[in-house]
Amino acid sequence: MQPAGKNESSDAMIIRALRRASPEGIAGTDLARELGLTRGAIWARMDVLRSAGFEIEASPHYGYRLVSGPANLVGDDIAAQLESSRIIGHNVQVYRETSSTNELADRLARGGAAEGTVIMAERQTAGKGRMGRQWICPGSRSLLFSLILRPVMRPTEVARLTLLAACSVSKALRNLTNARLQIKWPNDVHFEDRKLAGILTEMRADMDQVEYVIVGIGVNILHQPSDFPPELRDTATSLIQIAGTLPPRSTIAARILDQIDRDLTFTRTHGFEQCLDEWKSMSCTLGRWIDLRVGSNVYSGQAERIDESGALWIRGESGKLMQFNGGEVTTQKDMAP
Ligand code: BTN
Repeated sequence: MQPAGKNESSDAMIIRALRRASPEGIAGTDLARELGLTRGAIWARMDVLRSAGFEIEASPHYGYRLVSGPANLVGDDIAAQLESSRIIGHNVQVYRETSSTNELADRLARGGAAEGTVIMAERQTAGKGRMGRQWICPGSRSLLFSLILRPVMRPTEVARLTLLAACSVSKALRNLTNARLQIKWPNDVHFEDRKLAGILTEMRADMDQVEYVIVGIGVNILHQPSDFPPELRDTATSLIQIAGTLPPRSTIAARILDQIDRDLTFTRTHGFEQCLDEWKSMSCTLGRWIDLRVGSNVYSGQAERIDESGALWIRGESGKLMQFNGGEVTTQKDMAP
């Protein structure tokens, strides 16, 4: 279980320069000058990048040209495609396989990993979903990652980060595909009532103050219907099924991380109100008649509002208003307005 690629920063710099170069490529001397490396060092790194799956042409006339990136996710490649990394993305680690990126991120956060560290995996052997469920998906079809955040907030405010992540993921994927994505409370990203992405937020905190938060995100990207377990085929979807053609997964990952970074930065400066408004505008839960399962209890009613802590308020048929901080929503389709 090794992060992909050593020498991360110079590789990310080379990939970024290659991706930004003109279609003809970039001369070795220009690359060396721009990055403050020797031509020999660049030559050596090109070989390493080729063995990581980058197709790079070298010609005496034009220099280096990136023909294509690797099919597998590579941390430096994702980092090189980030446009906004004020909080997130200074350290993007990609693993071939891990038990759960949330588990690994938790271990690293306990050991002092910096805020903004991204832990990504091609495959999870014990992926975790909400409400104690498993998150199962075949290797190299999804984006599976966890962010380490160290916000200055009380534990009761952490649900906001989950709503923010759901908004950011929805916006990033909507910008890539034009699809009308919606959010099912609290944080499932849906397309036409099918689940496209899920978020599991976990934290370590004392009574008053959060030490760190792990925001784990799973997005179905390349799944065909047969890639889902039979019981999920009618309720799950993937980005390729929605959009037909897609940029590489590394680019999709970078766009999602950029959007989370922008939204997080904005929220830390201007407060949470705008994020909540965006969440409401994308909600497919508010206004609908729902069943909410909490443990072994089911509460039915109309989803009336979401408050600034992220809690859902439901008005039961008797008119009683109930507030919930968690649970599993099922929409009563025949009663939906
Ligand atoms: C849900 O039940 O909807 C939440 C699913 C969250 C899955 C992601 S995949 C990456 C991260 N690691 C995990 O073990 N879970 C989250």
